[in-house]
Amino acid sequence: MAKAKRQYVCQNCGSVSYRWQGQCADCNEWNTLVEEAGETAFSAKHDLSRGGRTLTLETLDVHSPMPERMLCGIAEFDRALGGGFVAGSATLIGGDPGIGKSTLLLQAAGRLAKAGKSVVYISGEEAAGQVRLRAQRLGLGDAPVALASATSVRDILATLDSRTGDFVVIDSIQTMHSDLIDSAPGTVSQVRASAQELIRYAKDSGAAIVLVGHVTKDGTIAGPRVLEHMVDTVLAFEGERSHQYRILRAVKNRFGGTDEIGVFAMGEEGLGEVSNPSSLFLTDRSRDVPGSVVFPALEGTRPVLVEVQALTVRLASGATPRRAVVGWDSGRLAMVLAVLEARCGLQMGGAEVYLNIAGGYRLTDPAADLAVAAALISAFSERPVPADAIVFGELSLSGEVRPVSHDALRLREAAKLGFSKGWGPKGMKPVNGIGVNGFGRLGELVDLMLGRD
Ligand code: TYD
Ligand code: MG
Repeated sequence: MAKAKRQYVCQNCGSVSYRWQGQCADCNEWNTLVEEAGETAFSAKHDLSRGGRTLTLETLDVHSPMPERMLCGIAEFDRALGGGFVAGSATLIGGDPGIGKSTLLLQAAGRLAKAGKSVVYISGEEAAGQVRLRAQRLGLGDAPVALASATSVRDILATLDSRTGDFVVIDSIQTMHSDLIDSAPGTVSQVRASAQELIRYAKDSGAAIVLVGHVTKDGTIAGPRVLEHMVDTVLAFEGERSHQYRILRAVKNRFGGTDEIGVFAMGEEGLGEVSNPSSLFLTDRSRDVPGSVVFPALEGTRPVLVEVQALTVRLASGATPRRAVVGWDSGRLAMVLAVLEARCGLQMGGAEVYLNIAGGYRLTDPAADLAVAAALISAFSERPVPADAIVFGELSLSGEVRPVSHDALRLREAAKLGFSKGWGPKGMKPVNGIGVNGFGRLGELVDLMLGRD
């Protein structure tokens, strides 16, 4: 038998190298290569270029029924999935440890079980007793969920064969191990092989399977990124552990859009749904304080009002100013600062700049540029932005304010929450009594805020 070749697999991105290196050549992470057993090689007797079976090719115009959907009854969860779980599909929920993945899935499992579905919850991390205690605390002690604490994929599949499930939770995929592979649990090869077997079970049996995956920043646990292409749906569960709110976001969805989010708040009784997220993020807003601006972010088709806070500190000349950002892209902040300086003559270069998105929210919407600019101008000039105004718009390097998607939707949400002014790109129409102020260039906003003509 030929000697198995040593191979080293990056635990972050899954790329394979035949030589150990300190840094992965693909994703550039350090110290992520781990030696793993190679896959079983076919013997040279097999001629792999022959002997295949001819496939039956089909056409597109055959009518296929829509896949069956299962609503778990947690509206925010069903919404993020694009209308519930699909039978025979695999969903991956990724997120930092402790963010609430097990809690959310136990709540979904409990609801589905109470609605008469056959639900199996396999925990590889907690003993059955621990899961039971948690369920009792969540008020789901009486839900007929079938529970097991196991890590062997073979045992799990044998159990599922004798007891079909409509909804199966595997918490978490990193703790599972398949005996088809030699590597230790948690390595990329193991995670991939275990997931493959479980996903195949879902496709064959018609069960909706959910795999929980931990994501750690240092890459020590095999990142579920290698699983993303194997499953049908990838959900990211995000939030700051120190804040109570959590966002469930679809990153990939073979059965629907990826633009819907679910918003939850972690409380004493588990994750509660937040159907009006704007009110959550604005609760502790400091009014009439320089540097505070309300921005209507768009999450898919859903506007969420968040507070952008900026602080600038002028330094004695010579010191290197600090730039710190929480909840936004630091490159984007540097760009807005540069545009303010180069196009509007605001000398912020020597000042320390701190930017924070309140509530631990992470902004990705490009329309935040103008809100950030307004917060910076306001902090720098110590003049507050009116408390009843919202600000949004994208900035170009030339200092132009660019139109953004769904301005009417953003204004309508702001109107609902009692705002009466909308500062944004030129060409917006007033909506529901919100007066609009359109800017073609950032300089016009600076003039307005500084009272220049
Ligand atoms: P958990 O679901 O175990 O996180 P994950 O599976 O993503 O690792 O949730 C962990 C945190 O949630 C834990 O720190 C305690 C907190 N929590 C509550 O605040 N309230 C609750 O009702 C429950 C069940 C958990
Ligand atoms: Mg957990």
